[in-house]
Amino acid sequence: MHFFRYRGKRFHAEGVPVERIAEEVGTPVFVYSHRTLVRHYKAFDGAFKRVPHLICYSVKANSNIAVLKTFARAGSGFDIVSGGELFRVVKAGGDVRKVVFSGVGKRDDEIEYAIRKRILMFNVESPQELGRIDCIAGRLKKRAGVAIRVNPDVDPKTHPYISTGLKKNKFGIETEEAVKVYVHARDNLKNIELMGVDCHIGSQITELAPFIDALKKTKKLIGVLRKEGIDIRYLNMGGGLGITYDTEEPPHPSKYGREVIKNAEGLDVTLIFEPGRSIVGNAGILVTRVLYTKKGSLKNFIITDAAMNDLPRPSLYGSYHAIKPARIKASEEITADVVGPICESGDFLARDRELSAVEPGDLLVVMSAGAYCFSMSSNYNSRTRAAEVMVKGRDFFVIRKRETVRDLTRGEVLPQGLF
Ligand code: LLP
Repeated sequence: MHFFRYRGKRFHAEGVPVERIAEEVGTPVFVYSHRTLVRHYKAFDGAFKRVPHLICYSVKANSNIAVLKTFARAGSGFDIVSGGELFRVVKAGGDVRKVVFSGVGKRDDEIEYAIRKRILMFNVESPQELGRIDCIAGRLKKRAGVAIRVNPDVDPKTHPYISTGLKKNKFGIETEEAVKVYVHARDNLKNIELMGVDCHIGSQITELAPFIDALKKTKKLIGVLRKEGIDIRYLNMGGGLGITYDTEEPPHPSKYGREVIKNAEGLDVTLIFEPGRSIVGNAGILVTRVLYTKKGSLKNFIITDAAMNDLPRPSLYGSYHAIKPARIKASEEITADVVGPICESGDFLARDRELSAVEPGDLLVVMSAGAYCFSMSSNYNSRTRAAEVMVKGRDFFVIRKRETVRDLTRGEVLPQGLF
């Protein structure tokens, strides 16, 4: 449940009308609800209160340091996929002892930074990567905690771009091969501390069955490893729990929790989870202003000041985000494409959407914009990135200033020798 709703005719984020935020901060602007973030975190964490567990919020979903600090304060750990994300966690005051580092392409400098910071463990995705971690840890005279990310070959039944646990995907090590990698590490890699088994099968998963299939496979693997004398203490189930954008009915975290706990019974491990979307997705919205409306012979267009560079999910995955007016007014229902100013026909926020007619200057709210929206935004078409705001009760705070044109050319040079 989130805290965005109409009070009277005006759409509010907690106690603040979004019109007020747009007036003061401008548009497009992302607005997050502090109360929703904390509530969602607690719902996930609470689902596992009966068993030893660690929630590692997946930074990639929304990496603003004020968002990270909110979760750090609530006791969260963090799932990172780059040195940049670790830097953010440190800056936000996150506990590095609760950090797990995933990703198929970790660079030496990133591995070294993570070892120096003493993160909890690496989720290792290939034998070569494991070799690099052992070598770098040896050079630093430290031991690196490791889980091998296994690819359980389970179909998560989600968009192909965000399915990760199938043999054809680049992620993880196939289960049979993984045993050999663990044994090799046990016997030969002295700077590696084998601690866990990791698996993440995809994102926006709306059924329980794929999670439970993956859990059963990893459970079997843990049994095999223990027979080999490898002391597995952590099972990382990754992230992936879906949310409602439109009509999806994903399981509530409490149901997910009950099923996972039931199927993990007797394993005697600390469970790790890496939720991103299920915590932040519905805790954020994007507020955008209508610039123009246009009637073609086939279609109506609503042209907004937000575009695919701000919110790339519809263009990239054809995904649905609900769109509502910031103020309800009596107007006819129309069907329109909601599009941005970018010079591509793929630049849309919604297609063939039924909504009430709007005029230039009206504000629209794009729902479910807390996850993978700002964090995937870009400067394409030399558009400055949007501001981000956090609402708490009746107050709101800018947590990222709107970029200026000066930010656009920062780092670019006109070398004398070239001209
Ligand atoms: N752990 C790992 C290893 C991951 O790769 C991901 C997401 C997560 C955890 C968090 O998954 P979540 O709980 O958020 O589903 N840009 C796409 C989503 C990409 C997901 C990438 N990995 C989108 O906008 O739908």
